[in-house]
Amino acid sequence: MVFKQTKTLSNGVIIPLLGFGTWQIKDGEDAYSSTLAALTAGYRHIDTAAAYRNESSVGRAIKDSGIPRNQIFITTKLESHLKDYKQTFIEFEQSSIRLGVDYIDLYLIHAPWPWSEWRTNPDYTQGNIAAWKAMEELYRAKKIRAIGVSNFEIEHLERLFKGIDILPHVNQIPLWIGRPQKQLRSYCEGKKIAIEAYSPLATGRIFKLELLNELAKKYGKTAAQIAIRFTVELGAITLPKSTHPERIRENGMLDFKLEKIDLEKLLALENLDYR
Ligand SMILES: NC(=O)c1ccc[n+]([C@@H]2O[C@H](COP(=O)([O-])OP(=O)(O)OC[C@H]3O[C@@H](n4cnc5c(N)ncnc54)[C@H](OP(=O)(O)O)[C@@H]3O)[C@@H](O)[C@H]2O)c1
Repeated sequence: MVFKQTKTLSNGVIIPLLGFGTWQIKDGEDAYSSTLAALTAGYRHIDTAAAYRNESSVGRAIKDSGIPRNQIFITTKLESHLKDYKQTFIEFEQSSIRLGVDYIDLYLIHAPWPWSEWRTNPDYTQGNIAAWKAMEELYRAKKIRAIGVSNFEIEHLERLFKGIDILPHVNQIPLWIGRPQKQLRSYCEGKKIAIEAYSPLATGRIFKLELLNELAKKYGKTAAQIAIRFTVELGAITLPKSTHPERIRENGMLDFKLEKIDLEKLLALENLDYR
């Protein structure tokens, strides 16, 4: 059962391989019922972010699920424009309050730059180091079990490493069929940084890929299951999102293996974002 599969981070923390993504799920009933559906289906790992503006509803669903806190792995993220030591403590506290928890399993810097500036790739190294220093303190104080980054390329990681003590445990990156991230995955592997695959369905655009439908027929699975299985087989912690209970369940039914030849075909596809 994929829900029972886990990965061990470089600090020994165990993380469920499949997580439920909550980006673009509206706060209130949608985020509450989707998160509850995921927990009912068997997911034990929820990925949210301050920027998703749904932490309160996610937290309420976690509480109402009745599942003990220590059996659910919760990730949230520091907003991308906050590149400041003191502000990181304040924001972390706010996220914890909204989620209704007294520790976070994984806390990430959401992006190396404010999202509004990503196209020009500005250098926010000093701000990232300042935020990271605060995260290291929260980690040492056991308020966070693992710390990481998201959307960091090799250049961002190398600049960050110059000013920090604890290497990131995780890098959450865009990873789907057609965007295999070979170099970044191999670099992170060398540093013992676990990869998390976000948007394994390319935010719903992946269904345009004809090969995916052919493979779905061959394996008697859905296109979504083939796409999610692909990132799982790359060893990435994988974070599909849906607001439909039947799809939420379907996305967790991954007890099959892709043949080597098919995995290689899929891995050979590069630079596809399906726009
Ligand atoms: N760190 C970052 O910067 C970052 C960026 C992007 C994403 N993420 C994380 O990764 C998670 C997943 O990425 P994502 O939200 O971009 O989406 P995704 O999982 O790649 O795709 C979700 C889309 O596919 C549809 N879908 C889901 N399951 C389906 C199925 N079985 N059959 C047909 N359609 C299906 C969903 O529609 P319905 O909802 O209508 O079912 C939705 O439109 C996010 O929620 C977030 O937690 C992180």
